[in-house]
Order: sequence, then C-alpha cells, then structure tokens
Amino acid sequence: MRLDDLHLWYLADPANPRYVGALKLVSAGKGVSLHYGADWLAHGFPLSEDLPLVDTEFLPPGRLSADAQRAVGAVDDARPDRWGEKVIRFVDRPKRLSLMEYLYYAGDDRFGALGVSTSKEAYLPRSGGPLPRLEDAQSLSEVVAKIEAAEPLTALEARIIAGGGSPLGGAKPKALIDIDGEPWVIKFFNNEPVDTPLVEHATMTLAKQAGITVAETQMVPLVVFNAVAIRRFDRERGHRIHSISAGTAIRAATASGQEPQMGYPALARVLRRVGVAEAGVHQSDARELFRRMVFNILMDNTDDHEKNHALLVVNPYGNGRLKLAPAYDILPTHSGQGHQEFICGALGHESTLDNAMSECEAFGLLPNEAAQEVARVIEVVDGWRTHLAQVGVSAADIEYLGQFIDGDELLAQRMGFEASRFANAGGKRAKPVKRGPFSV
Ligand SMILES: Nc1ncnc2c1ncn2[C@@H]1O[C@H](COP(=O)(O)OP(=O)(O)O)[C@@H](O)[C@H]1O
Ligand SMILES: [Mg+2]
Repeated sequence: MRLDDLHLWYLADPANPRYVGALKLVSAGKGVSLHYGADWLAHGFPLSEDLPLVDTEFLPPGRLSADAQRAVGAVDDARPDRWGEKVIRFVDRPKRLSLMEYLYYAGDDRFGALGVSTSKEAYLPRSGGPLPRLEDAQSLSEVVAKIEAAEPLTALEARIIAGGGSPLGGAKPKALIDIDGEPWVIKFFNNEPVDTPLVEHATMTLAKQAGITVAETQMVPLVVFNAVAIRRFDRERGHRIHSISAGTAIRAATASGQEPQMGYPALARVLRRVGVAEAGVHQSDARELFRRMVFNILMDNTDDHEKNHALLVVNPYGNGRLKLAPAYDILPTHSGQGHQEFICGALGHESTLDNAMSECEAFGLLPNEAAQEVARVIEVVDGWRTHLAQVGVSAADIEYLGQFIDGDELLAQRMGFEASRFANAGGKRAKPVKRGPFSV
C-alpha cells in the first residue's frame, strides 16, 4: 500500500471522529502539507496559529531547509519521533519510509487529539489492538529491549507491542499502557549509568516541591530493572485534548522568513499572548515556565528541547487558548554539556542563573519577583540528595549525579545567587499584547 494520500481527523470524542483535511507528501517527499476540508473550514478551528481556517494547501516553509522536512504546523505533533519510528521500522516494516508512513503507522493513540486515516469518508486508522496492561509490563520491556537492540521479533512479540508501541515522540524505549483503565506512558531502563526510571520519578516529584505542575508518575518494578509510568495528560475521561509541542507553538508564532527562537522566553511570550486569560492563568503559566527553566538548569536537565514542553488547547472551538501542559521528561542529563537545549535568555543556551534572569520580563516578571522564584527553586534543589534517597535512589547513583548537580558549575550558581541583588532593580513589567488567539 502506497500512502501518498492520507486524511487527518479530529478525535476529541473518539466515538465521533471529525474530518479535518487532506495530507499530501510535498517538498521532494520530505514534508507533508494540509488542506482543510469544507466542513472543517466552516465549523472547525485552526490547529495552530500557522494553520488558519483558509481554503488552501498549507506547505512546510522553506523548500529545502530543515523545516521543510516536517508536516505543517500542529500536524507535525501527530507523528512519532525516533523511538516510534524505530518501532514502525521493526514491527510494521513498510516498504517506503516517508513521513506519510510514520504518520499512518503511528496508529490510533497518538499524542493529542489528531488521527490519521487512509479514507476521507471514515476514520480508518492503522489498528494496533488493545493497550497492553500493567501485568504485561515485564514482557513489554523484553520486546522493547529487542527492538532497541534491533533484533527481529516473533509474531507473539509483535502482537504484544502492537497496541502500544508508542506513537509518542522521544528517543527512549517506551510504550503505552493501561493502568486501572487509564492510559499511561511507560518508559524502560535503557542501560544508562544510573537507574533512570527511578531517577525520573524522583526528579519529577522534586520538581513538584518547587511549584512545578508535573505529570503524575509511578514506579513499575520489573524483574531486573525499574520502569516509570507517566499518566497521560492529553487524555481525560475517554476524551482527547488537542495538544501541541512548544516547537509547534513557537514556529507558528514566528514571522515567515525568520528563524524561530526555540526557547523559554519565546514560549513565555506565546503563553502571555494566547494563553488562557481567565483568572490570569496565562500569567501564572509564564511564571511557572520560569521556574521550570531554573529547575532544569540547576538539576542538570539540559535536554529541555522543543518537544519536552507541551501546550494544551483547552477550549478549541471556543477561544483556542493555550495552557501549559504538566511537565514531563524532567531528569538529570549528566552530559556535562553546560548548555540547555532551549534558549534561556540573552546569553543564549548557557546554563546559568544570570542567563535565566536576563529576560525575566518576557515571563511577565520584575527582576525582584524573578529572583524570588530562583531563590525558591534553589531551596528545593538544595535538598535533592535527601529527596532522591527518600524515593529510593541508591547512594551510588546519587554520587554519580552529584558530580553534575553539585559539580563546580551548578553548585556555584546555587551558592552564589543573591536575591537581594535584585531587590531594588528597576524594570518595567512587560504588558501582554492584546490580540485574540490565532486571528489572521
Ligand atoms: N504524560 C504524558 N502525556 C501525554 N504525552 C506525553 C506524556 N509524556 C510524554 N508525552 C509525549 O511523548 C513524548 C516522549 O516522551 P518523553 O518523556 O519526552 O520521552 P523521551 O525520554 O524519550 O524523550 C513527549 O515529547 C510528549 O510529546
Ligand atoms: Mg523527551
């Protein structure tokens, strides 16, 4: 089957799929375009700011640039990433491997509320079977390890993974799993120098103490190694929430011809402009994003790239405003690279508190308010060893992580930060731009 034409559906209520539009392979086979259908143009909503309700074929920008090698706007978040692509290569083994195959074989349970079908008449996804359950976690981990090692699967193993091979993004081995009737993601140990699943659980719960809304995590002990399960935040009582990555939101907010500034300040500006305005949620989200940036810097989570932050579209037909999704994939990277993947401020990617403070106005914070946030996060991070030990991380793993979290660079940041330096610092609170979301 050649998948040259696919169709996008909206599955907020999976029992009533709605047709969105047609997907086509473009940019010399490297990108995917979207053309909304008539019904969606009349009654739907813009999937992202760069996909307004206009009767046209939206093409990925820049014919030969890296940005051309993606699906347009929010459609790009409907495709799997490195791990999901690996599962498709090993389990489904399609003859051609273009974005269309990855979009289609990701199946029915992908990130957010979009679905991909071979038909425009009916939602016909690639069906994978039921989600594996918690009691299947051990066999699932064995199948996942075989895929990671590029070993061929038996028919039974292929069946085990078929329901939850992870259409979700990311590079690490993971799967979808059902825990007590709720959908969760499960991430497995992958020969890292520390017990990564336990460290992820511990770091996420530490982040919560620092005033960060985190996705709920739970440990899944397996025969030899631990796994960590993370409750899906894009599912709610059987319904699916339209969700986009930070990268999609920032790209969509960038004027054509300009390079998107992938970073915290740009994401904060998006939140303050098109975030949920009721009860000042957009302001508190921007403030929380500031805390997440500081926490990631101090906890050595340098892997804070554009797909490791997400936004939920809470009322898509109403006002389309964005809400910061709970934090996920927060754990020490122990790479020692000294820079974040996301831009933090005027010093670019540099992992320093000076850099974090430098553009605090983008987050709607005065310097003294930002400094208080930093001080609060420092206080929590100072107790990281105790918290990790309480959660059960071994002394050896804590020592290993300590080389980085308490290494010269990061410890000096924590010890040397003086909130009082900013007490009388001038500065004007930046006003949010008054404009409706996704207006053309
Ligand atoms: N709890 C969750 N609910 C919904 N989507 C999630 C959740 N956790 C992760 N994701 C999605 O899956 C992707 C991969 O998960 P992540 O934890 O980042 O894995 P990795 O460690 O491989 O990067 C994320 O980029 C995000 O799009
Ligand atoms: Mg990730």
